[in-house]
Amino acid sequence: MKTILITGANRGIGFSLTNHYASEGCKVFATCRNLHHAEDLLTLAKENENIIVHDLDVSEATSIKNLALELSGETIDILINNAGVYGPKGIENHMITADEWLDVLRINTIAPFMVTQAFEANLARSHVKKIAFLSSKMGSMADNGSGGSYIYRSSKAALNSVVKSLSIDLVTKEIKVVALHPGWVLTEMGGPNALINTDESTLGLTKVIDNLTDEQSGQFISFDGTVIPW
Ligand SMILES: NC(=O)c1ccc[n+]([C@@H]2O[C@H](COP(=O)([O-])OP(=O)(O)OC[C@H]3O[C@@H](n4cnc5c(N)ncnc54)[C@H](OP(=O)(O)O)[C@@H]3O)[C@@H](O)[C@H]2O)c1
Repeated sequence: MKTILITGANRGIGFSLTNHYASEGCKVFATCRNLHHAEDLLTLAKENENIIVHDLDVSEATSIKNLALELSGETIDILINNAGVYGPKGIENHMITADEWLDVLRINTIAPFMVTQAFEANLARSHVKKIAFLSSKMGSMADNGSGGSYIYRSSKAALNSVVKSLSIDLVTKEIKVVALHPGWVLTEMGGPNALINTDESTLGLTKVIDNLTDEQSGQFISFDGTVIPW
């Protein structure tokens, strides 16, 4: 039975990933920043004893430290850094501020590194040793044909850079890392015009994670298995 730690598990893609792994028999540490906004997750956890809910605000150092202490004796096979925000789009309809930009960078770019750093020892104990980062095609320079979304695009482009460096630095510990694009998914972030639902995204993402090879560590891969240009 594998053990998975997922951030932002109370809704959207994180919730769907939690449901998928738990129904496969994995033990899931499903984390969310506010237990008062986690009704669906708490209900799911009541129905499935494989799901253990913890609070974790990925942008708060104390919150990360507390959970790392609580889970210090646990082996974690797969860490999924899923939590993310979109932030204001900028230019077209809103004068963005530096503080708004920094808030998004803190959650989308810096937090996944901090969480990884905090749980690296748990992963090192495993034989599986995989870390997935929910990035976005919007962070790809090659794919940017429409401009805009300065904050979100830059936060995910910077996340991709973090993933690439981690893939090199964690080779000695045999930990594989990957930046994943989940598709355009029907969630609060994806909105009503999105192309796929969370189940379709999760099926693809988990297939990529399950089959991840040493050669793929450090790559930017879509839920359909294709490699995305930086
Ligand atoms: N949906 C898409 O089309 C799409 C496309 C490309 C990439 N992605 C990426 O996929 C990931 C999941 O997206 P989604 O569509 O599922 O988004 P979502 O429905 O908006 O859910 C975002 C999740 O992140 C959590 N979160 C935000 N800030 C947090 C923090 N500081 N600490 C802990 N949790 C926090 C949210 O918790 P609260 O409920 O407390 O706010 C929520 O659980 C994100 O990284 C996103 O950038 C999504």
